[in-house]
Amino acid sequence: MWSPDERRFIFVTGKGGVGKTTVAAALGRALAARGKRVLIAMCNAKERISSMFASELVGSEIVLVGERIWAVNIEPERAFEEYGRMVLKVAALYRVVFQNKYVRSFLPAVPGLSEWAMLGKAWYHTTEVSERGGHRFDVVLLDAPATGHGLDMLRVPKIILEIVPPGVLRRDAESAWKMFTDPARTGVVVVTLPEELPVTETLQLVQSIDHELELPLGTLVVNRVVKSLFSETEASELAKIEPDEIPVGAAGGDVESDEAQGVLQAAARRAIQERHQAASLERLFAHTDAPRIVLPFLFDDAATPSAIKKLAEYF
Ligand SMILES: Nc1ncnc2c1ncn2[C@@H]1O[C@H](COP(=O)(O)OP(=O)(O)OP(=O)(O)O)[C@@H](O)[C@H]1O
Ligand SMILES: [Mg+2]
Repeated sequence: MWSPDERRFIFVTGKGGVGKTTVAAALGRALAARGKRVLIAMCNAKERISSMFASELVGSEIVLVGERIWAVNIEPERAFEEYGRMVLKVAALYRVVFQNKYVRSFLPAVPGLSEWAMLGKAWYHTTEVSERGGHRFDVVLLDAPATGHGLDMLRVPKIILEIVPPGVLRRDAESAWKMFTDPARTGVVVVTLPEELPVTETLQLVQSIDHELELPLGTLVVNRVVKSLFSETEASELAKIEPDEIPVGAAGGDVESDEAQGVLQAAARRAIQERHQAASLERLFAHTDAPRIVLPFLFDDAATPSAIKKLAEYF
């Protein structure tokens, strides 16, 4: 069983809409409950953390959203400016570089630069020291952007190491990469759904993390898994039924028959969903032996504090 507790940096990735932000919030909540100081960093995302924690809106400033939990929504341009300010400490130089119209117009277009600004900022927060001495945050959870599974973002430090001449940028990329590749400090959490396409994509994603990027895979999180409602016998009986062929509403006003047919149709549909889910899970687990956490499908809104609390119990 993989433990997130000793990690300093956790990268939450997966295809769009699979539940990355929900998982980041639940994992963050679990770690905070065990005494960790947690920062959840999102990358220019649609803000939903505030409803998950019933907090104020989360923008590009770090805000406290729960006990020992902070969150921030990193905006690439701002992150880049902040970084520039840190690196180019001399204000005059900063102004020349970053407030120059020409520089401002081309900087965001440099490939990888805005990704590095966001990733670099998230990494930077792992290095911050608080007034009390220790780390400002024990762990930074990065909720990766959905495009390219956020892996494009993780490719950037390697590229910087290869092409950028020695200097501050390279020094930071080196330290960040050292942390990201260290299984004692970093873990990549891959979120997926128990469905055919997401499973195929997840297997490719795991392959890239293991072999191309050589980053430490922490755990797979299979989200939105429905409970099996039927016994084996019931399931095999239901498998014989084609739900769309049930003549719902054709009982000529016999309400009871109509209702019974409606229930049967719903049961047959659910049985199909369960069969597809079981097949997807079987394929996923046959092709990777990564640790796994299975989260239930929640029928109520998952972006609420009580839902996040419930999901946190699985971590
Ligand atoms: N276990 C669950 N049960 C039911 N609904 C869920 C569950 N997990 C997430 N959801 C819902 O699914 C939707 C997508 O979740 P979420 O926003 O966390 O995905 P995401 O991967 O961060 O998406 P994006 O790629 O757009 O950032 C949300 O409406 C969320 O509330
Ligand atoms: Mg999200």
